[in-house]
Amino acid sequence: MKTVLITGAYGQLGEACRKHLKNNFNIIMSGILPVDNGVKLDITSQNSVTKVLSELSPDVILNLAALTDVDECELDPESAHNINVNGVKNLCSDFSGHFIQISSDYVFDGESGPYSENDKTNPVSVYGKTKLDADNWLVENYPRLTIIRTNVVYSYTRRTQASFLKWVVNSLENKKRIKVVNDQWNNPTWTESLAEVTYKMIKNELFDLYHYGDRDILNRFEFSLLIAKVFNLDSSLISPISTDQLNQHAPRPKKSGLLTNKIESKLGIIPKSVETCLEQIRKQFLK
Ligand SMILES: NC(=O)c1ccc[n+]([C@@H]2O[C@H](COP(=O)([O-])OP(=O)(O)OC[C@H]3O[C@@H](n4cnc5c(N)ncnc54)[C@H](OP(=O)(O)O)[C@@H]3O)[C@@H](O)[C@H]2O)c1
Repeated sequence: MKTVLITGAYGQLGEACRKHLKNNFNIIMSGILPVDNGVKLDITSQNSVTKVLSELSPDVILNLAALTDVDECELDPESAHNINVNGVKNLCSDFSGHFIQISSDYVFDGESGPYSENDKTNPVSVYGKTKLDADNWLVENYPRLTIIRTNVVYSYTRRTQASFLKWVVNSLENKKRIKVVNDQWNNPTWTESLAEVTYKMIKNELFDLYHYGDRDILNRFEFSLLIAKVFNLDSSLISPISTDQLNQHAPRPKKSGLLTNKIESKLGIIPKSVETCLEQIRKQFLK
């Protein structure tokens, strides 16, 4: 049975990946603050990386560790580069197995999405630039490589504090009015959809660059209305706002989203609709 080391395993995606991989692979969860017998691993420390890899000898590294707060990256580009680029180099310098990197649609400028794997990259934020630098370095230097670019990843579990879905549901349940941008388009992606894709990548040893997002391209305002509909909450509490009105530190790609033709033809995956994913999440909660 293959051993898979998951870095940054205690974030949003980690929990879904553990659930989807644990029956077929030996999973090692790792993070800066591990829980439940996980392994302590800060990917910015070459010493820690070397020690963990030599002790555990994984066959696969699934790298989920990243500084993902886009505004924090803009304010602290050094940390962003250290984690998102140098961390990747550290992991690869001591490893020759299958390396899986999760990248982002933020490598594009959002002028003409949705994007295919062949489209020209042009990040508009520090976060996007660090994700692209890591992608480019990997493509040039690491042969047994899978890069999966995804976008607007969401889930609703006890560990996911930063989830858009959780924010919308909790706000509406508490009768709180929220403003949601209506000029950023993506195909929102359930963590479990992406974890299933990851499982197939490992099982089939599929290398190369792939885009994955669930089926529908929506703007955030439309996504929040769909959440209200599926969770039977009051959508009149949601009002639209433009990205410019938010005055965030980092610019955002607006017309983004990812085309999935390549992964569909290679893996036979048919992305689910966003509504179907939300329905499944709601059913999990009602259990
Ligand atoms: N969320 C999205 O919408 C989205 C979209 C496209 C791509 N991605 C990519 O998907 C991957 C997983 O994202 P996610 O949504 O699961 O994000 P997340 O919830 O922020 O998880 C990232 C994890 O990485 C950890 N981490 C940060 N610095 C680390 C370090 N130096 N060493 C080890 N672990 C470190 C974080 O720990 P702390 O919380 O303790 O800092 C966190 O547990 C990332 O590569 C991200 O760039 C995410």
